[in-house]
Amino acid sequence: MKPSLLLSCLLTLLCAMTAFNAQATDAAKAAPKGDAARGQAVATAVCGACHGPDGNSPAAVNPKLAGQHADYLFKQMKNFKPADGKQPERTNPIMNGMIAAFDEGQMRDLAAYFSAQAQKGEVAKNRETIELGQKLYRAGDQAKGLPACAGCHGPSGAGIPAQYPRIGGQYAEYIEAQLKSFREGSRANDPNKMMRMVAIKMTDPEIKAVSDYIAGLR
Ligand code: HEC
Ligand code: HEC
Repeated sequence: MKPSLLLSCLLTLLCAMTAFNAQATDAAKAAPKGDAARGQAVATAVCGACHGPDGNSPAAVNPKLAGQHADYLFKQMKNFKPADGKQPERTNPIMNGMIAAFDEGQMRDLAAYFSAQAQKGEVAKNRETIELGQKLYRAGDQAKGLPACAGCHGPSGAGIPAQYPRIGGQYAEYIEAQLKSFREGSRANDPNKMMRMVAIKMTDPEIKAVSDYIAGLR
């Protein structure tokens, strides 16, 4: 073989190997995607009892899952699951039990199914607090260092995947309960204490006002 030919063969081989390696690392980096069709059976038969078969829960204690970002749903399921003998990162007696039987592949499928459903949003119910709720949501309260919810959850409450969940259209009662749990620290699965630092600056009436406003937000 001529040296130049040998060189070009080597180069071709090197390029092919580099391309292959690049592909392999990309695949490893991208989170595996769930399969919505595979998740449907369990979602409708098991989860649907509380969250609604299409993720539009019929009762305010059970959050709507429809249209929520898949990565956020997956994270919450993992946080609910007791792992390696440790306490689950997010405590709720019902969900800690519900999710225990499922592995990560099944969780991804369930997340894919619920995130692909269209959310049917709630409405704001309290005229008197709408203005306060809107102000807190859009601008926060500079005087006490409360950041605007919109900064992380988006102007329409749609959230920003993967970290910031959709909250617009969710039940006010559920939002209120979560804000209070973050405030007292009984929910502490928020990365970098992002939500605990927000909630700790809020009074009960402010929490009520912003929760009602968010229920009607699109
Ligand atoms: C018996 C009722 C019940 C069943 C059945 C149930 N859940 Fe839940 N789920 C709840 C309740 C209540 C909460 C709210 C927990 C809290 O307040 O922290 C919740 C919360 C969640 C959340 C967190 C949502 C968010 O916005 O943070 C996810 C995700 C979830 N459930 C997924 C599932 C999946 C998947 C199934 C089926 C395998 C399921 N649930 C079955 C009652 C239920
Ligand atoms: C600095 C960014 C940031 C700001 C500002 C912020 N949030 Fe959040 N919020 C988050 C993150 C991140 C999560 C998800 C935590 C997790 O992974 O469990 C979250 C979760 C939530 C949840 C729980 C959603 C669910 O489905 O359980 C509610 C409710 C919420 N935020 C309401 C608010 C409100 C109301 C405000 C404004 C007063 C606000 N957030 C401001 C980052 C933020």
